[in-house]
Amino acid sequence: MENQQGTNETLLYAKGIVHDVNNLLMRAIGYAQSAINVMDATGLDSKDLHKAMRATERAGGLVSQFPDFLEHVDQPRKNIAINGVVQEALDMVAASLSSPVKTHAHLDSPNDIVYADENQLFESLLNLLTNAVEAMKGKDGTLTIATREIPVELEGVEAMYLGLKPRDYICIEITDTGCGISPSLTERIFDPCYTSWEDRQGSGLGLYMARKIVANHGGNIVVESKEGAGSSFYVYLPIAQAAA
Ligand SMILES: Nc1ncnc2c1ncn2[C@@H]1O[C@H](COP(=O)(O)OP(=O)(O)OP(=O)(O)O)[C@@H](O)[C@H]1O
Ligand SMILES: [Mg+2]
Repeated sequence: MENQQGTNETLLYAKGIVHDVNNLLMRAIGYAQSAINVMDATGLDSKDLHKAMRATERAGGLVSQFPDFLEHVDQPRKNIAINGVVQEALDMVAASLSSPVKTHAHLDSPNDIVYADENQLFESLLNLLTNAVEAMKGKDGTLTIATREIPVELEGVEAMYLGLKPRDYICIEITDTGCGISPSLTERIFDPCYTSWEDRQGSGLGLYMARKIVANHGGNIVVESKEGAGSSFYVYLPIAQAAA
């Protein structure tokens, strides 16, 4: 009984916080919109401000999921074109780069429809891209993101290696030329709270959450890395079945 009351209070508290955070985000969007109006009227480029608004909307979408998470309610999913989501995440990271990192996108998978929660996948990609940038901090580097369809004939072998059900997947590959990861750590980095960035406080939850979200979508994330040379993270997601 007491436990039940505790859960209800936690839920109400979570809902209250979401409500207040969304209030503040709506204000931020309101201010951004008036700034956009002024910029448009004076012929200034408001592209970056539109992106800031989009990021704010995505943050709102994510925090709104928190009470549902506490109540174990699944988020509604829909068919989304993942290449567009990948491009948007890369643009967001590229816009805030402070180091001289080059970015490349090869979004080559023509079949890119996945049945998914877009906000969650966006967040996962953002985590992987942010890590890649962090790994190249303070030096030149290249961040490449590519999508490809896993050919049917490879499906069985790759799926077995990845612990996935045999079917068609899209693979999103995020490669950096950063510090790399020692072979003894390539699995540990996915543990909750494992962090190694020395000069800032990471939560160590980025990869844990990203893998959990991708696994909830029937996929997986694996990494290949060479210490001192760089890393590639491969995000596998099932391609949605075409409607009958
Ligand atoms: N691209 C990468 N190159 C090298 N090491 C990486 C890379 N991505 C992740 N790591 C290692 O994995 C660790 C865990 O990453 P994770 O995203 O889970 O947490 P974090 O980045 O440390 O913290 P937070 O995500 O909260 O900022 C990192 O601290 C780092 O040691
Ligand atoms: Mg991280």
